[in-house]
Amino acid sequence: MPAAGSGVRLGAGIPKAFVELGDRTMLERSVAGLLASGVVDDVVAVVPDDRVDEAESLLSPLRVGRHVVVVTTGGAERTDSVRNGLAALTTAHDAATGAAVYDVLLVHDAARCLTPAGSIRRVVEAVRAGEAAVVPVLPVVDTVKQVDAAGHVVGTPDRAALRAVQTPQGFAPDVLLAAYDAAGDVATDDAGLVERLGRRVATVQGAALAFKITTADDRALAEFHLRSRPT
Ligand code: C5P
Repeated sequence: MPAAGSGVRLGAGIPKAFVELGDRTMLERSVAGLLASGVVDDVVAVVPDDRVDEAESLLSPLRVGRHVVVVTTGGAERTDSVRNGLAALTTAHDAATGAAVYDVLLVHDAARCLTPAGSIRRVVEAVRAGEAAVVPVLPVVDTVKQVDAAGHVVGTPDRAALRAVQTPQGFAPDVLLAAYDAAGDVATDDAGLVERLGRRVATVQGAALAFKITTADDRALAEFHLRSRPT
């Protein structure tokens, strides 16, 4: 779970994942949501360097049963943070078991902290059914234009063929690790790195509640949802 973003666009003055929605931080809500889905065993939370102790204490109540919850530090770009998370996962797992036990790896933005369990389960089920990479998507409601550097429109892709992509994105572990091994530069999502390997990426239905909290308006919308349906 990449949770090491600065949150500049949210404007709360602290890293986004540590902003509280209701009585809990986005980080706690996101990790709890994954564990409550019933299809996630262990979580690696990737947080800013100076927030490790805080993350440890926020997440320690979630370390129940067999769940392993590891905290590690992020990097300058989301890609760096996910890469650190994958490294920490491998270390934690080798220490605990000495063997590779995961059949699915998910990468999930802490900023999508209201993601419903159904979305998480659909992604995991599709990977378990044999897909190497799976992304949850929604239809695009606005017409999308491609523009040049000067802002002039150069094309209008057929909206019916476009999808907005969410997380968690799910992968066969060897495919995600190979994609990150090969990744030279930054990508805005993890499946994009898998596409560069020439591998197929499947889609499943996403969820409106899995929206990414980026701006103050998004935060207000999330608080509205929590007031209507406390979780
Ligand atoms: O910036 P953006 O909203 O696209 O970030 C998506 C997710 O990636 C957020 O959960 C954020 O905390 C995380 N991130 C990260 N490390 C970065 C940048 C973003 O873990 N350097």
